[in-house]
Amino acid sequence: MVTAAVDSGSMHEHVVVRRGGRSGLPIIVAVHSTALGQAIGGCRLAHYPHWRDGLTDALRLSAAMSDKCALAGLPNGGGKTVVALPPGRTPDGSTRRAILHDVGDVIAGLAGAYATGPDVGTGPDDMLTIADRTPYAFCRPVDAGGSGDSSAHTAAGVLAALRALCAERFGSADLSARSFAVLGLGRVGGHVLRMLAGAGATLVAGDVDDTRRPLADAAGATWVSPPDCLTAEVDVLVPAALGGLLTAESVPTLRCTAIAGPANNQLDALATADLLHQRGILWAPDIVVSAGGIIHATAVELHGETSEQAAVRVRGIADTLTDVLRTARATGSTPATAARLRARQRIRNGHR
Ligand code: PHE
Repeated sequence: MVTAAVDSGSMHEHVVVRRGGRSGLPIIVAVHSTALGQAIGGCRLAHYPHWRDGLTDALRLSAAMSDKCALAGLPNGGGKTVVALPPGRTPDGSTRRAILHDVGDVIAGLAGAYATGPDVGTGPDDMLTIADRTPYAFCRPVDAGGSGDSSAHTAAGVLAALRALCAERFGSADLSARSFAVLGLGRVGGHVLRMLAGAGATLVAGDVDDTRRPLADAAGATWVSPPDCLTAEVDVLVPAALGGLLTAESVPTLRCTAIAGPANNQLDALATADLLHQRGILWAPDIVVSAGGIIHATAVELHGETSEQAAVRVRGIADTLTDVLRTARATGSTPATAARLRARQRIRNGHR
């Protein structure tokens, strides 16, 4: 095992990179901060050109989780697990089990400093498999004692955020008056699309995976390619796939007025927030918008709340976002900067 402290903005507390004993694959667990409490963050199974790219991703994603937890008012810090899959098929069956048991062993070695949850490429059943090796796995299926699939709760938080964003940007929280482009129809994106359709919104949708087109059809959304979805002429772009889509190259091509979605790390760099600001595009920070899953899971599993009580907390994302957007406007900064400052302040205060 290589255990290293790595710098990525503020320095991570603990980073483990281990070749899984069963799977032979790189298992990466990055614990960014436990200043506010146990670090939490999902387990991502994704293809990377090289495991070092997976490490870079884990470092960035775990740091963002610290801010996400702080902004959500949780007594938790940020972490993330990345399993860097080689090109090819997504593992299933016994191969998948071996990977998840390797993940569970690394987490067990952290003795409670970090707990995982579902993320891109994993779900509740995977959490149950990880739980064979460590108790620190959120969102196991409900019949196995967990809080279950978090994607609908993440989506509920996104809807709350979209209402708050529309109220700030267009003067009304009524979603039926607005058009949205949902980019990515995975677990969370699919829910968001359905909920927007239910609210009477005008919709465009796209995904790299063509088999998801029926989801768009069922929601009455116009199906377009991912590049066309990104640059669609709509009121609000909803990034719901992988991060890094807002860049110096892509921002000039956007034709939306505002952006809010559940994808993690949407900006390739903080400077891109300034480019959005200059173009008059209001960006709702992903670290605020995407917190519904962790808010629900921790409320139910750590604090013994009912799902209804947790749902009220998830809707609180609207107030947090409104606060961040108003602070940004009042101080002449970007929402990205306002959100970060607020998170760092909370981490400092909580730590003291
Ligand atoms: N994928 C979730 C996120 O990025 C991770 C998570 C969900 C962790 C639920 C714990 C519980 O916020």
